[in-house]
Amino acid sequence: MSGPLFNLLVSYLLLCSSFATAIRIPHTITNKHGIHSHQNIVKRSVTLDLPRNPDYAPNGPVAYALGKGDVNADTVTNDREYLSRVGFGTPLQWLNVDLDTGSSDVWVYSNDTLPEVAGNRTVFRIQDSSTAQKVANTTWIITYGNRAWGNVYNDTLSLATIPFSAPLESCISASPSLTADPFIDGIFGLAYGLPSQTTPLQPTVLSLLLPHLAAPLFTTDLRHHSSAGAYTFGYIDPARCKADSQIHYTPLVQGAQFWEFAYTGIHVEGQADWYLANFTAIADTGTTLLLLNRDMTELYYSSVPGAKQNWTVGGIWTFPCQLEEDHHPEESGSQEGWGGGEGRGGGELPDFEVGFENGFVARVPGRFMNYTVMPDDAGRCMGGLQEWDYEFGIFGDVFLKAVYAVFDVGGGRIGFAEKDLGDGE
Ligand SMILES: *[C@@H]1O[C@H](CO)[C@@H](O)[C@H](O)[C@H]1NC(C)=O
Ligand SMILES: *[C@@H]1O[C@H](CO)[C@@H](O)[C@H](O)[C@H]1NC(C)=O
Ligand SMILES: *[C@@H]1O[C@H](CO)[C@@H](O)[C@H](O)[C@H]1NC(C)=O
Ligand SMILES: *[C@@H]1O[C@H](CO)[C@@H](O)[C@H](O)[C@H]1NC(C)=O
Ligand SMILES: *[C@@H]1O[C@H](CO)[C@@H](O)[C@H](O)[C@H]1NC(C)=O
Ligand SMILES: *[C@@H]1O[C@H](CO)[C@@H](O)[C@H](O)[C@H]1NC(C)=O
Ligand SMILES: *[C@@H]1O[C@H](CO)[C@@H](O)[C@H](O)[C@H]1NC(C)=O
Repeated sequence: MSGPLFNLLVSYLLLCSSFATAIRIPHTITNKHGIHSHQNIVKRSVTLDLPRNPDYAPNGPVAYALGKGDVNADTVTNDREYLSRVGFGTPLQWLNVDLDTGSSDVWVYSNDTLPEVAGNRTVFRIQDSSTAQKVANTTWIITYGNRAWGNVYNDTLSLATIPFSAPLESCISASPSLTADPFIDGIFGLAYGLPSQTTPLQPTVLSLLLPHLAAPLFTTDLRHHSSAGAYTFGYIDPARCKADSQIHYTPLVQGAQFWEFAYTGIHVEGQADWYLANFTAIADTGTTLLLLNRDMTELYYSSVPGAKQNWTVGGIWTFPCQLEEDHHPEESGSQEGWGGGEGRGGGELPDFEVGFENGFVARVPGRFMNYTVMPDDAGRCMGGLQEWDYEFGIFGDVFLKAVYAVFDVGGGRIGFAEKDLGDGE
């Protein structure tokens, strides 16, 4: 699946190092190897001697009970991506991986990786793992707009201090667009029902993790310009939601491979009307931006004075970093969490809202819609919302930072709740 604009956008994003985001190209695959086909696994009931996560424990007793745990989501380069520590092999080797709800494979750079591809990053040393078993004659290849491929081993993984056995894809080579990112040691795919990209087919890591969780779900609390965020596995952490808020669930679309769900419309702060949509979107932690079709993107930037789509860089929407003061209309009832305290004197981007059939409205504050300053023009900023002309939208990190999200694998649904976004950054 590709189009000229998409390719331009992606190549621009990939070429320019500060935008080296991995936008996923969803695969159109019709056979479903969903997580529900691997249920015949005995649930563990042992007491685990769990090392504590030193960085985050606001809900310690819950988090460290059997089958429940937190994994930090550390922001890298102003929220371009979030990385988490995951353990691989026996004894565990800890690597920084991108927990990615938009893909299904778990792969790491390893001693198999060509030296010029591995660079200076930490790699998984298969030879030091007593539990690694090569899966004979099995290979993997991924194309996300990027490419990577290699061998497959079965090994022990430890996610949120929950150990389990799964196929671990070892990278032989990857395209420069991937290896240009020096922070990532691997990708940890958590897509809903997408098969892994292995030949012959191996079960997905999510399907193998599921029986080990106290509840068949995980949650995300990504944070704007902050490493205080986390993924929780096996439980919902009410402390991460607003005190009086509830989780609003939407079923995934029929036969979903990604975390794909319907929404009913969008609203731009200050505009009189909602734009009612009948579209779907996928929740993708592995995509940096919010990507929507042309109509919705134009609607948003029509409220941003001086915003333009720059066709010399593939149609990226940019706006003057210092906005005119008076564009920002008063609108009661949606000022909370507004980042008005930055003391710049200029105007700010309007909030962006998404409505759901269950009545929930997710509000992405204007300051989250300001992704970054353009590398070659300090006066222009790049928007967190960009155009992508596919029938479904991609709710990447720009959106996910604004909510607490519950990826309910067992329930085949996604839930969103309000959370405290703090004041400014
Ligand atoms: C790896 O580190 C060495 C020494 O610090 C440095 O000279 C080299 O450029 C680095 N290579 C890469 C690919 O970053
Ligand atoms: C990496 O280690 C494994 C396990 O010892 C070994 O089978 C494999 O050949 C090594 N890869 C390379 C490229 O040496
Ligand atoms: C790898 O694990 C799968 C289950 O996920 C199992 O069927 C297979 O026999 C294992 N292969 C090896 C070589 O350990
Ligand atoms: C792997 O492939 C080789 C050569 O095709 C074959 O001889 C061998 O039996 C295969 N091994 C397994 C476990 O399928
Ligand atoms: C939404 O789209 C579906 C098919 O994609 C269609 O069946 C349904 O009638 C549409 N609903 C509205 C309100 O337009
Ligand atoms: C469009 O992008 C190019 C390359 O970044 C830049 O040189 C040019 O000034 C931009 N044009 C506008 C109108 O921002
Ligand atoms: C956007 O963010 C940049 C810093 O990343 C800041 O300098 C600029 O003032 C912001 N502009 C708006 C309109 O928020």
